[in-house]
Amino acid sequence: MDIRPTHATLGAIVTHIDVRSLTADAFAKLEAAWHEHAVLIFPAQHLDDEAHIAFSRRFGSLERLQTTAVEGAQPEIFMASNVGPDGRTDPVGSARFLHNKGNRIWHSDSSFKSNPAKASLLRAEAVPSTGGETEFADMRAAYEALDEEQQRWLADKVAVHSFRYSQGQVGGLDLMSATELDAIPPVEHPIVATHPATGRKNLFIGRHASHIAGAELEEGRARLRSLCAEACRGDRVYRHRWRVGDVVIWDNRCVLHRGLPYPVDQPRIMCRTTVAGDQSGNDWVLGSTRDNANKQKGTR
Ligand code: OGA
Ligand code: MN
Repeated sequence: MDIRPTHATLGAIVTHIDVRSLTADAFAKLEAAWHEHAVLIFPAQHLDDEAHIAFSRRFGSLERLQTTAVEGAQPEIFMASNVGPDGRTDPVGSARFLHNKGNRIWHSDSSFKSNPAKASLLRAEAVPSTGGETEFADMRAAYEALDEEQQRWLADKVAVHSFRYSQGQVGGLDLMSATELDAIPPVEHPIVATHPATGRKNLFIGRHASHIAGAELEEGRARLRSLCAEACRGDRVYRHRWRVGDVVIWDNRCVLHRGLPYPVDQPRIMCRTTVAGDQSGNDWVLGSTRDNANKQKGTR
């Protein structure tokens, strides 16, 4: 296995590897590299759903989605796709078009859940001829770049993360039922997090962070916006230009990501699994008791 850093602070390209058949030793080496680089790129793996799910499970239990509207052939697979069953690309302004639009703003997947996601693994099935790259920003480097006074001010601050707020901003709520939205009420997360594996501190912000608990609403919002803009400055960002067959894993606990725009009439099909966080409150973990209960009621 060859691990080549792509960027000064995050990202590494991993080649001479088949992620379908990793020994325990090889996986341990890979996991250590992931903790160091936070984003790993595996070119030309060409995984199917089963192999994608099996590789993802090595990092932990998988999340179920907040809505079945974006579910792939398997409940573990989230489809970030702009192609309908008729093979046509989504009309501009349609419910799914707006839903996908949210991905263009810096975020951490599932930060709106009480147990936010650990990792996401995204693979490319169809890519546009131009645009559609995914960018990753290092929130460890962003935290370390703050001056001491800012670090001190942020130390005890808590952000309120809300999917209703963030998706509402792009008009992307129509894909979800009222029941699905009610299942994800606002949650609070500290703005400064300590990574459980590395002990490094990082910012935990992004588009789902609506405001700061205990601060005046608009003031908190403005503060979060400027913090995010500064954190995602160019020198902390790695941009991945996709080729069909690539797989990328990123650490949602310390990395923000966003998709870049692309021509609306070109298909872009991306499949994602999401590794659940380690915190308690595992309602969103596939196979959890609550999930099974919901399945039996037919409301999954
Ligand atoms: C995602 C996501 C961005 C992209 O799948 O979680 O934000 O470039 N994707 O598709
Ligand atoms: Mn995302």
